Amino acid sequence: MSVTTSEHKITIHSGSSSAEILLYGATVISWKQDGRQRLFVSNKSKLDGSKPVRGGIPIVFPHFGPNPEFGLPQHGFARNSTWSFAGTQTENATETTVAFSLEPEGVAPELKGKWPHTFKLVYTVTLTKDSLTTSLSAENTGASQFTFTSLLHTYFAVENIDQTKVKGLQGKLYDEKINNKFKVVEENELVGIASEVDRVYYNVGNAGAQIIENGNVTAFLTTRGFDDLVVWNPWIEKAAGMSDFQEGGYKFMLCAEVGQIGTPVVLQPGQKWVGEQVLH
Ligand code: BG6
Repeated sequence: MSVTTSEHKITIHSGSSSAEILLYGATVISWKQDGRQRLFVSNKSKLDGSKPVRGGIPIVFPHFGPNPEFGLPQHGFARNSTWSFAGTQTENATETTVAFSLEPEGVAPELKGKWPHTFKLVYTVTLTKDSLTTSLSAENTGASQFTFTSLLHTYFAVENIDQTKVKGLQGKLYDEKINNKFKVVEENELVGIASEVDRVYYNVGNAGAQIIENGNVTAFLTTRGFDDLVVWNPWIEKAAGMSDFQEGGYKFMLCAEVGQIGTPVVLQPGQKWVGEQVLH
């Protein structure tokens, strides 16, 4: 069987690949290809719905970062809410797709109503032997317009951050939160990480980025609907200050997060937006 459902988690298979999605946050917490885990999940992460997962692919909605305006937690409520399983959409020899949905009544009780808008989010996860596609649609089901930012906060598992580079960002403008540098042009063809990095690259485009390890491309990240890309690694000190970050884990992860940040999405009543990433 290529789709297995349990109370808290959906597991899907396609050929020699598998993925696991928690209903909590509709967070993809595992993507394996030929037995190799492609996503980093901290071994200290709570997977019980008490805290967003520190790893996998948390969904950021309706805002990136802190949001004092509505009193929501950092990165919004989608990753803190339990989504509904909306069923299997495709299940054949080459592809398995499952869907999840979240509407205002499903938002975590302590956060419900803080964002005063009516919406429907649908998230689909499609697994093939070679790829994982995650697609988020947001529909305005209310009577007034709303604005949001969103990301798919993918934690890639890497063998050694010292040997890892990101390609595809040369010439793009970025903001670096660590030292408050804004609108810097990326000069490097291959961006390495040797200290804490927290950058938003703008208008990266559909070609997205590639993760290079030891000189080889180990993941292609392409996108549709998400213009921007966050590159994040907390490095030693910041990671040590996070209660759910595994010791030394900064060495084995790299967040490359497609997002719509620089130009927030404005949805009129009845309108729908779709943002998608393909990892292969
Ligand atoms: C990144 C942000 O997307 O997420 C960082 O750019 C942030 O600033 C990181 O630290 C992790 O956020 P959180 O809320 O999961 O600790």
